[in-house]
Amino acid sequence: MYDYKFLFSQYPLANAVAPNRFVAQAIECNTADEYGRPTKENFERYKQLAHGRWGIICVEAIAISNEAKARTHGLVLSSHSVHLFKQIIQAIKAIDNQTIVIVQLTHAGRQCFDRNHRVKVYSDSTAIPILSTAQTKKIQQQFEEAVALIAETGADGIDIKACHGYLLDEMLRPANNRDDQFGGDYKNRSYLIASLFRYARQYHPHLIVGSRISMYEGIRGGCGTNSANEIIEDLTGMLSILSIMVDAGAQYINVSAGVPTVTPALTRPIASNAFDLYHHIRYTYTTKKQFGNIAVIGSAYTSAQDKSLLLADENCEKQYADFIGFGRQSLADPLLPVKAKQGIPINWCTLCSGCSTLLKKQQPVHCIKYKQGS
Ligand SMILES: Cc1cc2nc3c(=O)[nH]c(=O)nc-3n(C[C@H](O)[C@H](O)[C@H](O)COP(=O)(O)O)c2cc1C
Repeated sequence: MYDYKFLFSQYPLANAVAPNRFVAQAIECNTADEYGRPTKENFERYKQLAHGRWGIICVEAIAISNEAKARTHGLVLSSHSVHLFKQIIQAIKAIDNQTIVIVQLTHAGRQCFDRNHRVKVYSDSTAIPILSTAQTKKIQQQFEEAVALIAETGADGIDIKACHGYLLDEMLRPANNRDDQFGGDYKNRSYLIASLFRYARQYHPHLIVGSRISMYEGIRGGCGTNSANEIIEDLTGMLSILSIMVDAGAQYINVSAGVPTVTPALTRPIASNAFDLYHHIRYTYTTKKQFGNIAVIGSAYTSAQDKSLLLADENCEKQYADFIGFGRQSLADPLLPVKAKQGIPINWCTLCSGCSTLLKKQQPVHCIKYKQGS
């Protein structure tokens, strides 16, 4: 049995120490009740993950308001639901008090499930309304309120979701040519997210803060290009943005790629394009090389299936990544780390896209091949 020495080594994340390098990436399960409150299914998912002994558990995207939801049954944070999120954190910690729990906060922007609430950051050919400056400031305030609520739950940290085509990702793009403080140059495009980091570090210093980004989106004028009319990858702009985020207090970056509604294979490589995982590895490596003093999480390891653990171990050893993220694999087998450690056979994700299809159809998400926890 291979011992995966690096993958199973402890590693610091800000002021905490993760027991290993495994990260259960955020996976929206679309199982909240009609008010966005967590249900039995949500509790079960996180308890299963806690039994899996992940170094870090990322709690799926939670909307900062009812309007900001991407899914019909997405989670929503409010003063009425915060006690339930607290109970989820307590349930995780009761099973494994070493795991680091990071809660992802989101505004779905143009991907809000309710068409009436869809908003976009900058002008394009769609009929979706552009956010006014006042509306954007209100969203900034709602994010701050959400951070303050999470600070009460016992979670170790927050993830300000700025990836996969959601609102704050859109804001970072070169295509964001707004003429207020939220658009234009790097500083303005990262103004909102940097302000949130400064707010969290000042008022809730016990929280670990960071963000999930799409390093390259594969779209014209998207993140990872260098102008509004460019498709060719050039990471220098994103590195400038990340530098502003790190100066504002980001303690980790969770590196992802793509916009699932437009370039899904980039976000979630499948068998026919499993090679795209190497782009993720390069994005993580590039980030780590530039920002050696913060933790860097890599994504999309599920696509390497039964080769993923060896690859992950190698990348930790070479310091290409500090932490290794598994998304779909955490649905196929929430017990992945503990099984790998004990040499128990693992249910490898088959890359069938069943979970993604359920999400697209706004149905409750689960692995369609394996029963949870089997
Ligand atoms: C059903 C489903 C739900 C997802 N929900 C989220 C989410 O809430 N937040 C997020 O940042 N990424 C989300 N993702 C993306 C995954 O976290 C991950 O980046 C992607 O699946 C690629 O990694 P993998 O190859 O390990 O699965 C989701 C993916 C799937 C398939």
